Amino acid sequence: MANIVIVGTQWGDEGKGKIVDLLAEYADYVVRFQGGNNAGHTMVVNGEQFISHLVPSGILQGKICFIGNGLVVDPEVLVEEIDYLTGKGIAVGPENLKISERAQVIMPYHKMIDNAREKMKGDKKIGTTGRGIGPCYEDKACRRGFRFVDLLDEAGFKEKLDTVIPEKNFYLKEFLNDEPVDADAIYSQYSQLAKRLAPYVANISVELYDAARQGRQILFEGAQGTHLDIDHGTYPFVTSSNTVSGNACCGSGIGPKEITGVTGIVKAYTTRVGAGPFPTELSDDIGDAIQKKGAEFGATTGRKRRCGWLDLVILRNSVRLNGITGLVITKLDVLDGLESLNICTGYEYKGKLIKDFPASLDVLAECQPVYETHPGWAEDVTGIRNFDDLPENAIKYLRRIEELADAPIHIVSVGPGRDETIVLKNEFV
Ligand code: GDP
Ligand code: IMO
Ligand code: MG
Repeated sequence: MANIVIVGTQWGDEGKGKIVDLLAEYADYVVRFQGGNNAGHTMVVNGEQFISHLVPSGILQGKICFIGNGLVVDPEVLVEEIDYLTGKGIAVGPENLKISERAQVIMPYHKMIDNAREKMKGDKKIGTTGRGIGPCYEDKACRRGFRFVDLLDEAGFKEKLDTVIPEKNFYLKEFLNDEPVDADAIYSQYSQLAKRLAPYVANISVELYDAARQGRQILFEGAQGTHLDIDHGTYPFVTSSNTVSGNACCGSGIGPKEITGVTGIVKAYTTRVGAGPFPTELSDDIGDAIQKKGAEFGATTGRKRRCGWLDLVILRNSVRLNGITGLVITKLDVLDGLESLNICTGYEYKGKLIKDFPASLDVLAECQPVYETHPGWAEDVTGIRNFDDLPENAIKYLRRIEELADAPIHIVSVGPGRDETIVLKNEFV
């Protein structure tokens, strides 16, 4: 019996969706445990592309999918996503998709506050996805949020809205110079959404406990990446949840002893969307070439992703923070044809070598990446399905990553399709 957590090791968009879809074949349950529709996870099956923001990426494999208590859920987006998947012929209903009754609900004012704050910050903005993620987690922490269970209690929902809205309107109008919201309009819109989603609402924790007792296999699908974690990332240029594997327990309601492995997804180079430090960023032709070849555009906002070399300082940080038992290297094919490749092995700060990721952004801003250079390969790797058939220099690049990260590579991805994959080890079997 295996229960595996999948996390992003960099700044998101490592290819988690593809790998969750691939490994979901061996799982009975697939569970999201944090974040919201700031995530955009892409799956490509038989040439057809699917993007999910809230519904776990196990849905295409027909698995039971849970949206855990650790998420902030925009009910309008969830309904749209259920309809989108259904429209593509994917069966989605209360029998295979369940939302935790304790998951927080993103309200219209969360989105307005997120966007108005970013506008006010000007060039100091974080570059959020504008989906209301931060303001919703804020309300959760200060105990004025709405959970799905609160939405289902019509009278209680109305009463609580009437206490929350005046405060929100004061902030929107007086501080953010924005329009106020209308409590009655929100009540009527959200009551309708609650009616539609009511059959999906369940106690996920109890269901997962029973599943684990029966020896069922569970896959926990992380969103964002370790360096967007609210505690361990490049604060304040982070998202508002814990993205590390430890939160799989908190965010779904299971105990830590149920987790048997942690898979860290690593893009063969580095990307980042939005603002914030990025020591190995490439602002030259190579960066542009990787961006184009890798089609590096955000799956949620369509923004161009910033690109750079692989950074082993951040990968080692991720191996430690998540307790990673296996790595998946994605998008190796994007590096085909490069004459040489750089791996950042440390940072130079004021003449000294730093091997651990600094907490201070001022220190980070003064860090210069220290690179070792590896020869590239000319071959197209997309058709390769056996590790040993990879070009010699690609194998050397991958082996060096294992060595520096001190973690074994379990899977190599050589294209976006489910089948464009080299599996060395599958922790589910
Ligand atoms: P996620 O947020 O971690 O699920 O990643 P995204 O879906 O936002 O971004 C990853 C992008 O890379 C998607 O467009 C995937 O289809 C694509 N992708 C995943 N693995 C590979 C790969 O090995 N090679 C190539 N070329 N594309 C890949
Ligand atoms: P997936 O799951 C990449 C980034 C945003 C911004 C910061 C805060 O697809 O890997 P937020 O809206 O969360 O308050 O924005 O976090 N961000 C992501 N970047 N992939 C994601 O998700 C992201 N989710 C949030 O760009 O810099
Ligand atoms: Mg993404």
